[in-house]
Amino acid sequence: MSILVTGGAGYIGSHTCIELMNAGYDVVVLDNFYNCKREALRRIKELSGKEFKFYECDIRDRKGLDHIFQNEQIDCVIHFAGLKAVGESVVKPLEYFDNNVGGTVTLLEAMRDNGCKKIVFSSSATVYGMDNVSPLKEDMPVGGVTNPYGRTKLMIEEILRDLYRADSSWSIILLRYFNPIGAHKSGRIGEDPNGIPNNLMPYITQVAIGKLECLSVYGDDYDTPDGTGVRDYIHVVDLALGHVKAVEKAAEAAGLHTYNLGTGKGYSVLDMVHAFEKASGVKINYKIVGRRAGDIGTCYSDPSLAKKELDWEAQRDLEEMCEDSWRWQKNNPNGYPDD
Ligand code: NAD
Ligand code: UFG
Repeated sequence: MSILVTGGAGYIGSHTCIELMNAGYDVVVLDNFYNCKREALRRIKELSGKEFKFYECDIRDRKGLDHIFQNEQIDCVIHFAGLKAVGESVVKPLEYFDNNVGGTVTLLEAMRDNGCKKIVFSSSATVYGMDNVSPLKEDMPVGGVTNPYGRTKLMIEEILRDLYRADSSWSIILLRYFNPIGAHKSGRIGEDPNGIPNNLMPYITQVAIGKLECLSVYGDDYDTPDGTGVRDYIHVVDLALGHVKAVEKAAEAAGLHTYNLGTGKGYSVLDMVHAFEKASGVKINYKIVGRRAGDIGTCYSDPSLAKKELDWEAQRDLEEMCEDSWRWQKNNPNGYPDD
């Protein structure tokens, strides 16, 4: 079976390509290199020991997509390609709607017209908005998102639900990720953010390596055990393995399914700092500052549906997440080398 992985050279995509090939799937990668380096592709090859096809293509390029579907026998698409910086999306909403929503519509049209109707989509816990109380379950109402990035995820979910209502021969799996961190055990691939990281773990690892001076902890007055924000951190390799299971599910029968991919456990910002210090042996300099706009106190999953229906459960604990994040950062202090 052959899987087209859009955004396959990015953080989650690169780890997923390896697990797909380990599971015996053929992989075709598409990326426009907007937020990744070519070196990631070389390392996917190195780690998997397998060859795969790569197309430099934008998901908004209908001709380019048709060329791929006509050249390759694609059975299923895993759709990672998209822009993901929450703050940037507030400043550049049109770019986010064009790339994420417009790009997805173009991809879906190309899939339909080329007879491929199986898709696994990268959604996010952000679709649960501000109003639901954790643990978050798939049947809770979605909406109430606080930024254009989150809205693109919500809109794409709605588009996919409408598509399935109109044509029930599609297989659609919506995966709502919680907070992916960690890296491949080898330390050869990992998250390589552009500029100053927005997310907690890459910020911590850059403080540890000496690239950044001090972590700002956004608020210690939330209604949580130590007052700092609580999230459901999940190892990126566990997340990647969830995609292998989702592809199996999509191949079984037509249908539309939604799954949380999380561990079901919540850790605070200070828990993360301490766990990282323990795993790395490096002290993290931090200071408490005010809350970050749009943040909520607590967000973690109920992952039981994915366990029941996908036979998937996260295996890697916080210590392993911290060790693997640190190995990647230590071995690649400046991320991937430039192309
Ligand atoms: P990433 O930026 O590392 O990977 C996305 C990849 O898509 C990049 O390689 C980028 O070059 C590519 N891309 C972007 N726009 C494209 C376009 N128009 N055409 C072709 N390629 C394009 O991000 P990631 O962390 O691997 O996230 C993957 C997906 O998961 C994204 O859709 C993201 O929104 C979603 N997601 C991520 C997180 C997270 O915390 N990392 C959480 C929830 C959901
Ligand atoms: N935090 C800090 N300091 C930082 C960065 C983060 O204290 O420098 C705190 C945040 O306030 C939050 C926690 O660390 O309490 C995690 O923050 P992240 O930015 O790492 O993650 P978020 O939960 O805010 O958001 C992430 C992605 C979103 C996605 C969401 C749910 O950035 O795109 O997870 O999947 F929607």
